[in-house]
Amino acid sequence: MRGRLGRVALLQSTDRPVGTAQLREFAAFFADEIRSGKYPFVDFDEDERWHQRLYRDPRIDIWLISWLPTQGTQLHDHGGSSGAFTVLDGSLTESVPSGYADGRVRIRDIERASGDTVAFGRHYIHDVRNTGTEAAVSVHAYSPPLSSMTFYDIRAGDLVAVETLATDDPEPDVAPRLAS
Ligand SMILES: [Fe+2]
Repeated sequence: MRGRLGRVALLQSTDRPVGTAQLREFAAFFADEIRSGKYPFVDFDEDERWHQRLYRDPRIDIWLISWLPTQGTQLHDHGGSSGAFTVLDGSLTESVPSGYADGRVRIRDIERASGDTVAFGRHYIHDVRNTGTEAAVSVHAYSPPLSSMTFYDIRAGDLVAVETLATDDPEPDVAPRLAS
């Protein structure tokens, strides 16, 4: 499958929606491109997560994000976008709300190792953090391109939306109470 992907395929893309299987392929493909040295500009920032857009067309955008130890997001969704991410280097901890059986939301932590790819639909909520001791790098794909994000808190066992931002950037400036 991956052999049929490439910059040409991306540039010839149409307005057809991109599903999670294809998003997974795009994220993994760009991760391979970076491993092969085609994007030799991964950087790190002690103050905030460094990020760089790699590609955008009307139906998909691709971002490269680096994570120093302790850097992370807050619980968030991706507006109406589906997405996928590939851990290119290091490892990340993904926290996903789950466990509604007793009516209370719990957070399930999942370790995402280098080489792992995760795909998700447009209603997915997660928090991603570098809980390790080494820097991490990941590639993220969104379709349609990101246009908004909502951030969440868990309060008394309930998942509560606390802020929605219009943004085409997966690392928007958020209120200090939400910044990690
Ligand atoms: Fe996300």
